[in-house]
Amino acid sequence: MIGIAGAGKVGAQVGLEVASMGIDDIAMVDIVPGLAEGEALDISHRLSDAGVDVAVTGSTDFSVLRGASLVIVAAGLARKPGMTRMDLLSKNSGIISSVTKEAAKHAPDCVMLMVTNPMDAMTYVALKATGFPKARVVGQGGVLDNSRFKYVLAKKLNVSRSSITSLVMGEHGENMIPVASHTYVGGVPLADLLTEEEIQQAIEDTRKVAAEVISKKGATIFAPGRSVARMANAIASDTKEVMGASAYLEGEYGLKGICIGVPVKLGAQGIEKIYELKLSDRERDWFNKGADTLREAVASLTV
Ligand code: NAI
Repeated sequence: MIGIAGAGKVGAQVGLEVASMGIDDIAMVDIVPGLAEGEALDISHRLSDAGVDVAVTGSTDFSVLRGASLVIVAAGLARKPGMTRMDLLSKNSGIISSVTKEAAKHAPDCVMLMVTNPMDAMTYVALKATGFPKARVVGQGGVLDNSRFKYVLAKKLNVSRSSITSLVMGEHGENMIPVASHTYVGGVPLADLLTEEEIQQAIEDTRKVAAEVISKKGATIFAPGRSVARMANAIASDTKEVMGASAYLEGEYGLKGICIGVPVKLGAQGIEKIYELKLSDRERDWFNKGADTLREAVASLTV
């Protein structure tokens, strides 16, 4: 069974995406009376037409997560227009600490997939609050940021998004790193197709595009739903896919004691391997800047 804590805009969309994949039954929980049940019913009705037979249930009671092998956490406040993800730090850390403890009580063996922002810091909070081994707490950011990077590049180059191989790593926030030095278009290095100035512009556009969506429609929903579902499938179906995700570092990239986006192999055990990638000097500077921001953020918390 797959659990989802937080059935707001993103949690509900994740529920719809994951349920539609037909991997496993789903239990959703939210503190707002009726909300998770309502979303579960709506999703269930949608599944009938698609001929998918998983059960989707909702409740205000965390005990519905009992025995879940994967719990996706999207509970908490979302940023409003003009806010950065980090502006949510103090309020969401309290919520995430209690939500993940409660989830861990009912699903002590689960892999926890963190969505709530500021996501890297919340992944750290979940790790400390639950006491889970580091492999079983992972955060979603890089898959979504990479979708946005591909969108920006495909438009600039007038090519299919499917021909772009890329990765976004580092902090899921102001210092994210669309890794241009390892981006290829049908095998051709990005640097052969765009000038340095154009590449820097694409990186800037990728960093800003979520804020643009929030300023226009109030929230990002569909793209996060899909990205979280891709990670959920990798874990629940044990696919061993490699993608960017927030992981707790213990010496990799020369860093210790923070969660930050790096390429990882995902499977039933959670993070099964962290890959180290050679970054350009500029990318390495951004990575370290993101790490400093996250170190300061988690140091300010009492988890
Ligand atoms: P939302 O406000 O629509 O939903 C949040 C839900 O959490 C609400 O339904 C609320 O009742 C519930 N909640 C709050 N405290 C709870 C508790 N103690 N137990 C159970 N449920 C609780 O917000 P939205 O748009 O769904 O965003 C959720 C989070 O996901 C935000 O922090 C947002 O910034 C983040 N996010 C992360 C992304 C990523 O790529 N990592 C992408 C998009 C959003």
